[in-house]
Amino acid sequence: MSYNQWSIDSWRSKVALQQPQYSDLEFLKKVEEELCKYPPLIFAGEARSLKKHLAKVSKGEAFLLQGGDCAESFSNFSVIKIRDLFKVILQMAVVLTYAGSCPIVKVGRLAGQFAKPRSSDSESINGISLPSYRGDIINDIEFDAKAREANPQRMLQAYHQSASTLNIIRAFAYGGLADLNQVHKWNLDFVRGENFLQYKDMSDKINQALSFMKACGIDSANTTSLRQIEFFTSHEALLLNYEEALTRQDHLTGKWYDCSAHMLWIGERTRNLDGAHLEFLRGVDNPLGVKIGPSCTKDEILGLCDILNPHNEAGRLNLIVRMGSVAIKEKFPKLLESIKNEGREIVWSIDPMHGNTIKTDSGYKTRIFDDVLSEVKSFFEIHKSVGTYAGGVHLEMTGEDVTECIGGLVKEEGLGINYNTQCDPRLNANQAVELSFLIADILKHGR
Ligand code: TRP
Ligand code: MN
Repeated sequence: MSYNQWSIDSWRSKVALQQPQYSDLEFLKKVEEELCKYPPLIFAGEARSLKKHLAKVSKGEAFLLQGGDCAESFSNFSVIKIRDLFKVILQMAVVLTYAGSCPIVKVGRLAGQFAKPRSSDSESINGISLPSYRGDIINDIEFDAKAREANPQRMLQAYHQSASTLNIIRAFAYGGLADLNQVHKWNLDFVRGENFLQYKDMSDKINQALSFMKACGIDSANTTSLRQIEFFTSHEALLLNYEEALTRQDHLTGKWYDCSAHMLWIGERTRNLDGAHLEFLRGVDNPLGVKIGPSCTKDEILGLCDILNPHNEAGRLNLIVRMGSVAIKEKFPKLLESIKNEGREIVWSIDPMHGNTIKTDSGYKTRIFDDVLSEVKSFFEIHKSVGTYAGGVHLEMTGEDVTECIGGLVKEEGLGINYNTQCDPRLNANQAVELSFLIADILKHGR
């Protein structure tokens, strides 16, 4: 295959799936021009740093932890929610670092995760048909004709919310909350029982180690790595108008970066090789992810590598497997085996959420925690038997005490107690911490 010259808007001549229909194109253009003037949300040097970390992941020397809401929303915007999600990610990261003896690359699904692909363009209720909700960056979730209109103005609000989210996240990462001396403060009140005891036991040991090191002259006052973390952001690069408007040429290297987040991914529904999403992202130098469902073929993967990573750079491309707990066992071993000897640099991670979504009789979209665990375990086992590295996890999770996925204290009858996702069911902190102990165990005993 040969490709035309890439330009920031070359995607516009390709078919872009899952895009809204804006009625006022003049206004859309105005909003795009406005966004082009705004400061980038991330700096190119940070994206390069993430790529270096991911290159370590591809060699089995680090592990990728990526997580956050299915979709951020304008109405649920709150610093408490951001802080609590950040704390759970810290908790998981420290469990994996300590109990798994492995450096963790921390990436949030936040500060830009606003656009959602949908299985249908429209939704019908009681004979009324309206455009589907596509995420707060596009339209409003309320089932009302006006609310469901795609409004470009929402891109500006998404930008501003992302900017303030990122601002407080940077403050948490550098300003003391991530200090290892705070390890016992990261646990949220509702994480109790076995998970709490295990976590407490581990944080006591970390405190002992820190006291010992302090006596030796190493403490968080003189050693930044003890008190700070690098924290990166990511989202699905779905709404290409927004992504294009935040893409800038780095003045240090001359390369293009999508500065809406450090890392962008392409969804299972928009990863077609001749589509606009691949066309756009192939030209930016950020680390990229692509979701891989059960129908993905070897040729498609090689095509993705050719287009998105033509120089076979380590840390550039993360393939995020999301097959479901049953299909992964049938499909993934053969697929991985067939790719293994092609010499492609791939960071493999597992999204154990999207292939395991079911609907209960009472109408709740949910996921069974045991299915999530099972897909994660299979992912590790398959890599081990093929001789490749299971590099990371990609999760939908929250720091709120939600009842959206069934497992642990959350029973099917109890889903209604605190079910408040904007889109897909998320792991709560209890479930997330439990999962991290399980993964730490696998990391410790060798992938
Ligand atoms: N800076 C190191 C790291 O990011 C150690 C560290 C500091 C850490 N605070 C942390 C690790 C919080 C996990 C969680 O790995
Ligand atoms: Mn989702």
